[in-house]
Amino acid sequence: MLFTQLVAVTSAFATVALGFPSTPLLARIVSEQDIDHSYDYIVVGGGTAGLTVADRLTENPRKTVLVIETGQLDEREDAFLVPHFIGTAPPKYFYNLTSIPQPAGGNRTFPVLAGCVVGGGSAVNGMFFDRGSAGDYNLWRDLGNPGWGWDDLLPYFKKSETFHPPDSTTVEDLGVTYNMSVRGTSGPIHASYPPFLYPAVKNFQAAFKEFGTHVPYDGASGDALGAFWTPNSLDPAEMIRSYARIAHYDLIASRPNLHLLTGHSVTKVLFRGVIATGVEFTPFGGSRRMTVNAKSEVILAAGAPHTPQILQLSGVGPEALLNKLHIPIVVNLPGVGQNFQDHPASFTDGIFVNDLNPSPSNNTNATWIEEQSILYETEKKGFYTTSSGNAAAFIPLHELTNRTDELVDAYASQEPKLQFPAGTDSTIIAGWRAQRDALLASIRAGVVAVSEYANGPTAAMAIVLEKPLSRGSITINSTDPLANPVIDYGFYKNPVDVEIQVEAIRAWRKVLSMPSWQALGAQPTNPANNITTNEQLREWVIQVSTPTTSHPSGTASMLPKNLGGVVGPDLRVYGVSKLSVVDASIIPMIPATHIQSTVYAIAEKVSTLIRLQVDSILIIHF
Ligand SMILES: Cc1cc2nc3c(=O)[nH]c(=O)nc-3n(C[C@H](O)[C@H](O)[C@H](O)COP(=O)(O)OP(=O)(O)OC[C@H]3O[C@@H](n4cnc5c(N)ncnc54)[C@H](O)[C@@H]3O)c2cc1C
Ligand SMILES: *[C@@H]1O[C@H](CO)[C@@H](O)[C@H](O)[C@H]1NC(C)=O
Ligand SMILES: *[C@@H]1O[C@H](CO)[C@@H](O)[C@H](O)[C@H]1NC(C)=O
Ligand SMILES: *[C@@H]1O[C@H](CO)[C@@H](O)[C@H](O)[C@H]1NC(C)=O
Ligand SMILES: *[C@@H]1O[C@H](CO)[C@@H](O)[C@H](O)[C@H]1NC(C)=O
Ligand SMILES: *[C@@H]1O[C@H](CO)[C@@H](O)[C@H](O)[C@H]1NC(C)=O
Ligand SMILES: *[C@@H]1O[C@H](CO)[C@@H](O)[C@H](O)[C@H]1NC(C)=O
Ligand SMILES: *[C@@H]1O[C@H](CO)[C@@H](O)[C@H](O)[C@H]1NC(C)=O
Ligand SMILES: *[C@@H]1O[C@H](CO)[C@@H](O)[C@H](O)[C@H]1NC(C)=O
Repeated sequence: MLFTQLVAVTSAFATVALGFPSTPLLARIVSEQDIDHSYDYIVVGGGTAGLTVADRLTENPRKTVLVIETGQLDEREDAFLVPHFIGTAPPKYFYNLTSIPQPAGGNRTFPVLAGCVVGGGSAVNGMFFDRGSAGDYNLWRDLGNPGWGWDDLLPYFKKSETFHPPDSTTVEDLGVTYNMSVRGTSGPIHASYPPFLYPAVKNFQAAFKEFGTHVPYDGASGDALGAFWTPNSLDPAEMIRSYARIAHYDLIASRPNLHLLTGHSVTKVLFRGVIATGVEFTPFGGSRRMTVNAKSEVILAAGAPHTPQILQLSGVGPEALLNKLHIPIVVNLPGVGQNFQDHPASFTDGIFVNDLNPSPSNNTNATWIEEQSILYETEKKGFYTTSSGNAAAFIPLHELTNRTDELVDAYASQEPKLQFPAGTDSTIIAGWRAQRDALLASIRAGVVAVSEYANGPTAAMAIVLEKPLSRGSITINSTDPLANPVIDYGFYKNPVDVEIQVEAIRAWRKVLSMPSWQALGAQPTNPANNITTNEQLREWVIQVSTPTTSHPSGTASMLPKNLGGVVGPDLRVYGVSKLSVVDASIIPMIPATHIQSTVYAIAEKVSTLIRLQVDSILIIHF
């Protein structure tokens, strides 16, 4: 259904010529021959975090940065720029990663989506632009990372964005509330509301309120609990995607101290003893190996699926794995590739007997679609300005179910070492225990959400598990740097995770029964109302769930070393020097939110840390 819809839309849209310039900005793209012998910093991966850090470091004209990126620049295709076309970037702009069979998912394998393009995930994502709750980030801090709580991160969330308040019609019609004191007003990424919103989303918000959930004044204030409106990473001037490629590359491409090498993959980090000295890299699809030196630091920003692979290939990882593959050990770090997390989701279905106008059903009307595409082309308005929606509800466990004590006790009684295969390093087990205990305290205190209900113009919904305690892993099984690693989502390994999904389905039914949704004649269709027992619901959840909403995280976690950590609060890799990780891999516990704004905030913060470090070195030397 969705597929035919997209095809219909695309073909209708293709009749309208769009006005984007077809020649991209190419300045500072370097070829192999133009590369200098050494740079102050080498950034591995020109994605969301990598370009942000490269931008901030090259603000200092005396510092040189080389970014090496496997993908190419996009060619300003509609698939990247037009919000409605999220999810349609061609396969050449993605990796082709697949998980190993997941036993709790009936041994199915699942894709791992990751952008292979300048801008990485920010170029291909759904443009949902929200933040987690204070409780999500305070967990990071309390796990042994001073400086990474909500109050510490807020300045960097603000620094990363320019928030454009919704217009007065949107505010009045929809009741959107926002607080400028938690928003950024001059950062590189634009956050805004599209001028077209389905009216039924108002009923979504109202139904959650009737269900009894809290409604925050501004979900970006650290109070991301309950149902709220949220912007997109959308540039309102052009009504196009705002992403790392434009915000952190095109706009600064005139800086002579920034070089971007596309179409090349880093194969390993080079060390002299335990000091990172540079990287080895190879052209995409080729076999030649070249090297380049980093005077100050190598900065890994290859994303959660690839950063642990590069570390392991470089001799930084679990000793037993490196020995098995005959990779010389630089440092034994058991946590590299462990603590892998994502947000599993179950997709429910339902109908509105009396839908509002317009509704997603109008997407099948070719005449309407044609009108909308002209409206977008001429006035930057209408349906084509919308991406993945602007509303969601993030529900803490006590609002979801009366089984909170039972479920929390069930997690609390689990034996940590039984969560992992025999022989797992004790620091990984200790790390899980510490995360579990901290999370349960936060769940009891009601300061984190456990379930997300996404979107809202239909009765169908993605029901997303926000705080899973199942953990997966990403591990190389070959010394070929271009071979895909073994990806194990650890999907629903923890049975209590499934039980929370069961309760979330029950809660979805209750929300559908609330007056504001009954006004539209809301009816659940899948799971149907005759699926009632825990047993039946469990079975349903397992059959329809996916382990991923494309939020891979945690594979080089910021945690104390004795808790399986890979980097400390300065994001430097333990046991070596001049090597950092700055991407979603460092997230120790996945926050209850879509994670791009968090990745930008991490990158902004670490840029400041790296620059401070340089300044202090300068002070010492001069
Ligand atoms: C399909 C999809 C939809 C999503 N939807 C949303 C959403 O709506 N809202 C939201 O908030 N988040 C969303 N996300 C998540 C968010 O976009 C990502 O979490 C975020 O972009 C990750 O940033 P990163 O810097 O960690 O990695 P990336 O942005 O993926 O950057 C990693 C970069 O490294 C490059 N690379 C990898 N290996 C090498 C190598 N060996 N050598 C050189 N380069 C290499 C990659 O090509 C890539 O460009 C989505 C993600 C995807 C994939
Ligand atoms: C993934 O597969 C597509 C073809 O379907 C290809 O064009 C692309 O280069 C592949 N991605 C990578 C990173 O190899
Ligand atoms: C999944 O595969 C494992 C190992 O091959 C097997 O033992 C198990 O029965 C399978 N489970 C299902 C549901 O097919
Ligand atoms: C807006 O945010 C500031 C700073 O956090 C806070 O003091 C103020 O109470 C908030 N205003 C509203 C209306 O929530
Ligand atoms: C959307 O579709 C419904 C049902 O066919 C119709 O009544 C309504 O007029 C349509 N709205 C628009 C804007 O075309
Ligand atoms: C289809 O869209 C056109 C243009 O908006 C509208 O006039 C017509 O009523 C719509 N048809 C249906 C069946 O909704
Ligand atoms: C919890 O139980 C009370 C009393 O039976 C009931 O009114 C309420 O709806 C329940 N809440 C949830 C979230 O199930
Ligand atoms: C390594 O794992 C990948 C991904 O699961 C698989 O395709 C490949 O065959 C494995 N290779 C080896 C050498 O075991
Ligand atoms: C639920 O009802 C549907 C349709 O009436 C039927 O096909 C299905 O077997 C029923 N399931 C259960 C578990 O009773």
